[in-house]
Amino acid sequence: MDLEKLDFGAPAAERDIDCGLDDYFVESDAFQRVTNGEKTILLGNRGSGKSAIFKVLASRERKKGTLVLELNPENYSYEMLASTMLKESDGAWAKHGAYASAWKYLIYVSIMKGITIEGRKLKTGSAAKIYNYLRDHHQGVADNPLSVLISYLKRIEGVKIGSYGANLRANELEKLYKLEEIQLLFPHLNELCAKRRVLVFIDELDRGWDSSEDAKAFVAGLFQASISINQQTSNIKVYISLRRELYDSIPELYEDAQKYRDIIETINWDEETINWDEPSLLSLITNRIKHSVPSLATYNNESCWNAIFEEVLRYRQSRSFNYMVDRTLYRPREIIQFCTEALQMSKQQSNFPIDYSVISQVEISYSEERTKDIAAEYRFPHPGLLSIFEVFRGKAYNFDRNELELLCLGMIMDEHHIDVNAKNWLKDQDYEYLIEILWRIGFLRAQAVGGVKAMRRSGSSYLGPHQVSQLNLRNIHRFHVHPMFRSFLAMKEQR
Ligand SMILES: Nc1ncnc2c1ncn2[C@@H]1O[C@H](COP(=O)(O)OP(=O)(O)O)[C@@H](O)[C@H]1O
Ligand SMILES: [Mg+2]
Repeated sequence: MDLEKLDFGAPAAERDIDCGLDDYFVESDAFQRVTNGEKTILLGNRGSGKSAIFKVLASRERKKGTLVLELNPENYSYEMLASTMLKESDGAWAKHGAYASAWKYLIYVSIMKGITIEGRKLKTGSAAKIYNYLRDHHQGVADNPLSVLISYLKRIEGVKIGSYGANLRANELEKLYKLEEIQLLFPHLNELCAKRRVLVFIDELDRGWDSSEDAKAFVAGLFQASISINQQTSNIKVYISLRRELYDSIPELYEDAQKYRDIIETINWDEETINWDEPSLLSLITNRIKHSVPSLATYNNESCWNAIFEEVLRYRQSRSFNYMVDRTLYRPREIIQFCTEALQMSKQQSNFPIDYSVISQVEISYSEERTKDIAAEYRFPHPGLLSIFEVFRGKAYNFDRNELELLCLGMIMDEHHIDVNAKNWLKDQDYEYLIEILWRIGFLRAQAVGGVKAMRRSGSSYLGPHQVSQLNLRNIHRFHVHPMFRSFLAMKEQR
């Protein structure tokens, strides 16, 4: 076996696509629903595979001749939005609608540019009409998507707060909201798109996120724009991805949840399925093993994993795959990272197959990284989480309800060293609230009993939100800290 070649790929889809993602991609049901256009909004935690779906779909469609546009400016620069745009309260204008129009304008203009870009050869008919429009309105304008959007917003803002008479203002606004400038071009655009399908992907909206009024209006406006474009122009599909907790933090979106429900796909992973070869985190890893070590290509998933990792670990006789996947929140990036770090260590120490001594060594840094990442991931709704995690340091990781309530109450009552930012959102809350948050973000898991037990998908009898979506925590009597956090927090086995 050629171990030197063994490689688990890159932990972010943007780089992974050049390592072979299209080849070792796991085609989940979510992917199918996105591909056939049934779902156009992807929600998922960081590292769950949003970009992977977009990258693979984009690459496959390009090969078929589809025009694919990926609108992910390096950074959406929410700060710039906030500093250029007036506050809603100052301008007395509804930002949400203004952003929706500006997004539509930007997306349509980008498509027009994309579809007429090829060559300078003589354009006739629809292509000529669009070409002329672009020449007259967008020539020499910086090709930065954000600046197109901002300039349109500025036009709306100008009318809203400018010294127009009421009638004139309503009139001008209507023109801008209806995209009058480009409306006559829609039939031409439709004609061109009938010949060549167009897909637009908008990913990474969380980059530079600052939770400001403008950031929220920017995203909510995009949701609205995408729906409207997808309805209006049949051969254009606009796809958006967003991190789950950002979606939850934008009131404009969940107030409109009904409108979006049918087109939202939320990414969830299973560790392994009853049928070993169905899409799962196990196949996600074994596909990568087989891609880099072709001599294992004919192995089933189980024996492929066992060719690289010692099957049963000396720690509690756990199966190595279960042990590792149990230290993730079921996100592909986590298992890829854990496996990659283990592989590097095993190469360094010429210790193969990868066994418990290797896994437990890399677990120390892996656990630290993940704990800090999770705290950072939730820094907007719950700043200072790391200091709350630290309260658990050195303790036994199992808690019955009373102990946990007491500990959480202590944090609320300021008996521990908690970051001031965390104190702010904790004060005036009860311990149930804190338990709920710690469970939601994956830090705590709840022991499944009775009916709940039947809801679990696999593995441990302690469940997190990545395993069951709904759980009435008030009925739960025992909890434990998720294993991913334990090594870093030096938590002990039992009292
Ligand atoms: N269905 C899949 N099949 C194979 N690899 C995947 C799949 N989904 C995600 N990955 C890999 O997992 C890692 C994280 O996924 P990514 O799409 O970058 O996460 P996100 O964009 O949600 O933060 C990347 O290496 C990606 O290639
Ligand atoms: Mg991504």
